[in-house]
Amino acid sequence: MTNADFEKIVDTSDEWIVSRTGIRERRIADNGISTSDMAVAALRQAIDMAQCPHDEIDAIIVGTITPDYRLPSTACVVQEKMGFPNAVAFDALAACTGFINGLSIARAFIETGTYKKVAVIGVERLSSITNYKDRNTCVLFGDAAGAAIVAGDTNGRGILSTFMKSAGNLRELLWMPTGGTLNPYTADFTYDGSDKLTMNGSEVFKVAVRQMCDAAFRVIDKAGLEPSDISLVIPHQANMRIIDALRKRLGVTMDKVVLNVEKYGNTSSASVPLALDEANRAGRIKPDDHVLMVAFGGGLIWGAALVRW
Ligand code: UT7
Repeated sequence: MTNADFEKIVDTSDEWIVSRTGIRERRIADNGISTSDMAVAALRQAIDMAQCPHDEIDAIIVGTITPDYRLPSTACVVQEKMGFPNAVAFDALAACTGFINGLSIARAFIETGTYKKVAVIGVERLSSITNYKDRNTCVLFGDAAGAAIVAGDTNGRGILSTFMKSAGNLRELLWMPTGGTLNPYTADFTYDGSDKLTMNGSEVFKVAVRQMCDAAFRVIDKAGLEPSDISLVIPHQANMRIIDALRKRLGVTMDKVVLNVEKYGNTSSASVPLALDEANRAGRIKPDDHVLMVAFGGGLIWGAALVRW
């Protein structure tokens, strides 16, 4: 969907969307395509790239706020579709921070010797929870999936440090009020959009800038590095202005920042792995590069991961 498509359905303009967010297009999955279908498409490519036999995958972690079902996890559906015979599969809900959360769990599994190879997926079919009558949110979101195979390495490469934190007291800044056990759908439910994403954008914006910077500095410090050691920054693609504020505070130049918000909009937990994959396939990441990933989302929850490639 282009900005011109949104001009036809809500009171907005290409100029407003581009100047406030940097977004020009987003991808919307066809009817009948499920979240697990998208996850499988991404994971197949990751498995091919890693040249990893199916029976070597020990765990599948899916970060998503748009699961196929409330029960079972989307990860279990992915396991069945992929045919990983030896894996445990579960979802880890951390909204836009879902992929970073998955990396943190994968790192813990690997460092404790619990598992050797972990598939981490960020996938969202946000079009299914977007209110296309609300101009404050509908222009922002798109559908996408990304995946990575995380494995231990004896040459000092891998996930060097992670950091995650949340502020549950701010949960109403970005949430879906209806449809859970607290406010279940009832027979007399009148549609008011409360079963879709709602957001106080300007308040989320302020916390996002502050906490993404804090998370970034913490993982750099934990890894014993300086911001000048960072080869590439892969930020959550929510808003060009947030990314630019992060970049300036880190003191890195724009050529070290991966950007694709223009093409895909905000794809929540898929945004970091999608940008990571695009950067990798474009040859922007070399062995031993320090890659900083940082994200922020509904919870509120934020986090970062620093990888030596
Ligand atoms: O991924 C999870 C984390 N999410 C984020 O990081 C999102 C963070 N927030 C943002 O990216 C920005 O706050 C937004 C892009 C959502 C909004 O930008 P803003 O500069 O914070 O705008 P605002 O919410 O303060 O709204 C400014 C004005 C309002 O009009 P009034 O009240 O000043 O008359 C809005 O009604 O812009 C209006 N507006 C729009 N106008 C045209 C809001 N959405 C639109 C729209 N088109 N689509």
